[in-house]
Parts: sequence; structure tokens; C-alpha cells
Amino acid sequence: MAILITGGCGYIGSHTCIEMIKAGYDIVVIDNYYNSKPEALKRTRELAGKDFPFYECDIRDAEGLKKIFAAHNIEAVIHFAGLKAVGESVSKPLEYFDNNVGGTVTLCEVMRDCGCKRMIFSSSATVYGMKNPSPLNETMEIGGVTNPYGRTKWMVEQVLDDLCYSDPEWSAVKLRYFNPIGAHESGRIGEDPNGIPNNLMPYVSQVAVGKLQQLAVFGDDYDTHDGTGVRDFIHVVDLARGHVKAVAYALAHTGCEAINLGTGHGYSVLDLVKAFEKVNGVKVPYRIAPRREGDIAVCYSDPSKAAKLLGWEAELGLEDMCRDSWRWQSGNPKGYDA
Ligand code: NAD
Ligand code: UD1
Repeated sequence: MAILITGGCGYIGSHTCIEMIKAGYDIVVIDNYYNSKPEALKRTRELAGKDFPFYECDIRDAEGLKKIFAAHNIEAVIHFAGLKAVGESVSKPLEYFDNNVGGTVTLCEVMRDCGCKRMIFSSSATVYGMKNPSPLNETMEIGGVTNPYGRTKWMVEQVLDDLCYSDPEWSAVKLRYFNPIGAHESGRIGEDPNGIPNNLMPYVSQVAVGKLQQLAVFGDDYDTHDGTGVRDFIHVVDLARGHVKAVAYALAHTGCEAINLGTGHGYSVLDLVKAFEKVNGVKVPYRIAPRREGDIAVCYSDPSKAAKLLGWEAELGLEDMCRDSWRWQSGNPKGYDA
């Protein structure tokens, strides 16, 4: 029996492969390398200390997927594969709906036809939209998402709800990630964005390493303790461990559950910058810039459902996240291209 991991060469996927192997699972990984590199797979295998099958395969390729299901006894799927750049999704909506929604539908069809009806899906706190107040909990109404990327997550959540409703043998865990940052403590794998990063931590660490000159802090006039945006940053290894628990849950239960993966604590943009400087003994020059369109002031989780259903809670703190992000960035200034 094995667990199929789609998008397993990406940022969260690679860390999850390692935690799954540590927990004793056999895994099979697929990725189309759209946003990852073979070097990430090589290092993940090294860190896992155990080899595992890998296929270069697109989740929209039903025939390719069927061959993989025929070759392995897959009992559940952790589904990371997808496109994730908010700005790009505004200019390329069809690509996002095709990959994230169409790709997931194709994957679910193949799973159903092969008798594998258990899925862990990478959703996002973005599905809570602009209006729900933090702490965000899973009973809140979702929607009101401001961009195509977010809408693909919202739509796939509905697809999984309807699928589980239609067939009681299905089990789907929709994990709503807050803001994953950090890297494996070895510094060998981490987040390797293409071009100029959109997200805060990769930008901060590229400024610190000298690749970028200065961080633009998007807004200092929010209603928060220092005026900058507040987020629930979560260490990627904690997040990966949440998937291990979610797999066990999906193997033991049927039905559809949305579960937040966050720490329950909100830190501001400047809290993160200061923690990064202090822990790593580096400078992160910044300037205050106008607010970024589509941003909300405050976003953090109520993580109690994950504690109750999965027996999971985040263990690593902001300092661990800053230290590990820097170990990865400083050791690999060009990411996996070095
Ligand atoms: P990532 O881009 O590093 O990883 C995604 C992987 O999927 C990449 O390796 C990419 O090559 C692969 N992929 C993309 N389309 C594919 C396809 N059609 N077929 C096969 N492989 C494909 O992203 P990540 O940060 O690891 O995110 C993983 C998942 O979590 C994504 O679905 C993302 O939307 C979701 N998510 C991420 C965050 C975050 O902050 N990183 C937050 C919320 C949700
Ligand atoms: C963003 C996406 C969200 C996605 C998540 C993970 C938007 C509006 N939201 O979340 O849908 O799920 O990434 O990919 O894009 N910041 C700066 N300067 C920067 C970058 C960020 O000040 O250069 C600030 C932002 O204004 C925000 C905080 O840092 O207050 C976190 O930003 P980011 O890392 O982009 O994450 P989110 O906006 O929370």
C-alpha cells in the first residue's frame, strides 16, 4: 500500500515526502516540473534516506495516471499539484482553472475508476475571503475570493463536497493552509520561487542575501499593532506533519472535512522582519509602500479543529521559521540552480 503525492517536488510537497517516509509510509511521487526541479527530488530522496518511485506526469494526463495506479497499490492521494501565483492567475485565468480545477477533476475520475477514494487536498486560507473576522474557523461561510487562484481553491472544495455527498465511500480532507514559510532544518530543501518573489518570506530572505535591494512593506496604516498586515505564519515542516496526520484520518474516516493548518498566532510584517534580523544577525532594509490590492489587514486561524480531529498542532515558532528560511537561502542563494 502506498500514498500518491502529486506535486511532490514542490515546496510543501518535498517536505511532506520526508515526513511521510519518517512516519513509515510508502510513497509514490508525481510532478510535471512546471514549478520545480529534478534537483529538489534528488535532495528529498537523500534527506528521506530511502528511495521512492517518481513519475514525471501531469495530473491532467488521465492515461498516464492510470498506468501509475495500475503499477502501485495506492490507498490515498495527497494532492499538492497546482499553480499558485495570485498575480499570474489574474492574467492567465484559463490556465489556472484548467490546471487546478480541471486537473483535480481528472485526478478524481482516475482515482474513482481505480477504486482509490481518499484525498488530502491543498486548500488555502484565501477561501475565507475578505469579510470573515480572524480567528478564522471552519464553520464560517467561505467565498468572496478576490482572484482566480483563490477561486480555484474555492471551486475544488465544492467539487470535493459534492463528490463525497454523491458516494459515501469517499473521504476528502481539505487542508486550509495559512502562510507556510521556513525550510527543512538541513538547509538542503526550501522554497525556490521563479523570478522576483511575490510572498513575504522569500522576498525578505532574498533582500538579506543581497539578491534584492530593499523590501517594500505593503501598507503601515492597517488597524493592527504596528499598522502592517498580520498573518499566521506556519513552519513548512509543521505543515508537512499535518499531512501525515490527515492521511491517517482519511484512512480511518469517510466524508468531507475542511481543516485549518495554522498556528493560531498572528505576526505582523514588521514582527517577521525584526525576528529575521535578530535570529540571523542580518539586516533587511525596507521602505513603507502603498497597500497591495486584494490584501486584508489580519488573517489568522483558529487551529482547534486540527487539534481535535487530527491530534495535530504546530510546534515550531517564528524564530525557527526565520532561522530555517535563512539557512536555506544563505546556503543556496540561487535556489536549486546553484
Ligand atoms: P509549488 O509550486 O512549490 O508546488 C506545486 C508542485 O506541483 C510543483 O512542483 C509543480 O511543478 C507541480 N505541478 C503544477 N501543476 C502540475 C500538474 N498539472 N501536474 C503535475 N504537477 C504539477 O507550490 P507549494 O507552495 O508547494 O504549494 C503546494 C500546494 O499548496 C498548491 O496547490 C498551492 O496552491 C497550495 N497552497 C500553497 C500555499 C503557499 O503559501 N505555498 C498556501 C496555500 C495553499
Ligand atoms: C498570498 C496570497 C494568498 C496565497 C498565499 C500563499 C494575495 C493577496 N494572497 O497570501 O492567496 O494563498 O500568498 O501563496 O496575494 N508583504 C509585503 N511585502 C512583500 C510581500 C508581502 O509587505 O513584498 C506583506 C503582504 O502585504 C501581507 C504579508 O506580507 O500583509 C504576507 O504576504 P504574502 O506572503 O504575499 O501572503 P498573503 O498575502 O497572506
